[in-house]
Amino acid sequence: MGEVCAVVLAAGDGKRMRSARPKVLCEVLFRPMIGWIADTLAECGIGDVCAVLGAGADQVRAAVPQFSWVEQRERLGTGHAVMQARAFLEGHRGGNCVVLCGDAPFVDAKTLREAYRLHKQESAAATLVTAFLPDPTGYGRILRDGQGNVSRIVEQADADEKIRRIQEINAGTYWFSVDFLLDALEQLRADNAQGEYYLTDVIGIAAAQGRRVCGYEAADSRVAMGANDRKGLLRLNELARQAQLERHLDGGVEIICADGVVIQPGVQIGPDTTILPGTILKGNTVIGKNCVLGPNTIIEDSVVGDGCQINACQIEQSRLDENVKIGPYTHVRPNSHLKAGVKIGNFVEVKNSVIDERTAVAHLTYVGDSDVGKNVNFGCGTVTVNFDGHDKYRTVIGDDCFIGCNSNLIAPVEIGSGSYIAAGSTITDMVPQDALAIARARQVVKPGWAAARRLRLGPRKK
Ligand code: UD1
Ligand code: CA
Repeated sequence: MGEVCAVVLAAGDGKRMRSARPKVLCEVLFRPMIGWIADTLAECGIGDVCAVLGAGADQVRAAVPQFSWVEQRERLGTGHAVMQARAFLEGHRGGNCVVLCGDAPFVDAKTLREAYRLHKQESAAATLVTAFLPDPTGYGRILRDGQGNVSRIVEQADADEKIRRIQEINAGTYWFSVDFLLDALEQLRADNAQGEYYLTDVIGIAAAQGRRVCGYEAADSRVAMGANDRKGLLRLNELARQAQLERHLDGGVEIICADGVVIQPGVQIGPDTTILPGTILKGNTVIGKNCVLGPNTIIEDSVVGDGCQINACQIEQSRLDENVKIGPYTHVRPNSHLKAGVKIGNFVEVKNSVIDERTAVAHLTYVGDSDVGKNVNFGCGTVTVNFDGHDKYRTVIGDDCFIGCNSNLIAPVEIGSGSYIAAGSTITDMVPQDALAIARARQVVKPGWAAARRLRLGPRKK
């Protein structure tokens, strides 16, 4: 996009949110609002960004480490906020700068690009994004002159009845010629109802100087939506959630009831996959086709192949190949790979393990730090004992093994392919292939022992 830079206004505190976090870290679909803006700027290829930070600056910097930043010690308004970035702007003289509000996450790349195109084409001093809202309350209103050119923005607090009826509002996103902006900032005064330096007055200054000001009307009024309190944040979440659901429905995903279905923007889902209520899909997650996910499932940063069934599970940073069937109540922890046809059942936890094709782990089992072969059958209640209180060790199980119920496999240990582990064994040593390992005390039977005891002690007390 040529010689461009960005300033993001993010000095707001969380007061109206009643949050200890700065406002721009409040989340929409599990991503801080400023993260949405960072994604959009990255999509536009705008890498030179200065954030204006206030309370909780350290936390914001950690969320967007790629931004440079300045501090606004006192919150004296949006114009004052941009003044803090003066040195940054001086470094971009001759170019153009986009100014965005950190609390309006839905500004999209297309809107930024098209507003910029208009700005360049018209050699404008300023181009602002506008939107029409049925209820414009709280936003700055756009005033246009007889020719339809933007002449001024009037804030809600300064507007009379007539102006308050205007439905065209300032979305809070602006392109400026840097030279013009630096000059106009010098002229801002705080002589308004809120006693603040309004960035919006820069627009009136440009028009009064006879400079070109363009209004770019956004195709979708959502670009203007911001959140000032928790109710506003819930509205943003609901809008974003709905937009994601529609994207996937258009892509052929089946959702029979959308209650509690929350899907983050980066997630991909193949057609004919069914999503049941209470399913949350987060991060870099890719789901194949013909899967059934949910109910009550969370999948984060994971890849799920075609034809998988995942019922009431939690999966993190893991990979499932085709036709894997897991749940209910299975926890797949990071760095696990379940290969094709694997079945994992109730109350099973898998961590940092590879489980090869068609292996079944049906009930009440822990598989951690393990490499498990194909066609292995785990009996109920198997534990890979991977931790000695100091270090973690791996368990290696070959193909076609049968692990009897209630076995402990004490790592590091290797079970050769085709071997059997007797139920109740605690295996500490390598088992060669095709062997049977029994590692438990031999059963002792004492005939008549119980009857003799009853005779000796008399009737059982109640
Ligand atoms: C602002 C605009 C309004 C527009 C609306 C769109 C002004 C005067 N008004 O109003 O025309 O319709 O956004 O959402 O600009 N901030 C700072 N430092 C400050 C004040 C604000 O960094 O001293 C930041 C806030 O953290 C926020 C952004 O600037 O991210 C907007 O500030 P806010 O107070 O929310 O402005 P609005 O009243 O919403
Ligand atoms: Ca706002």
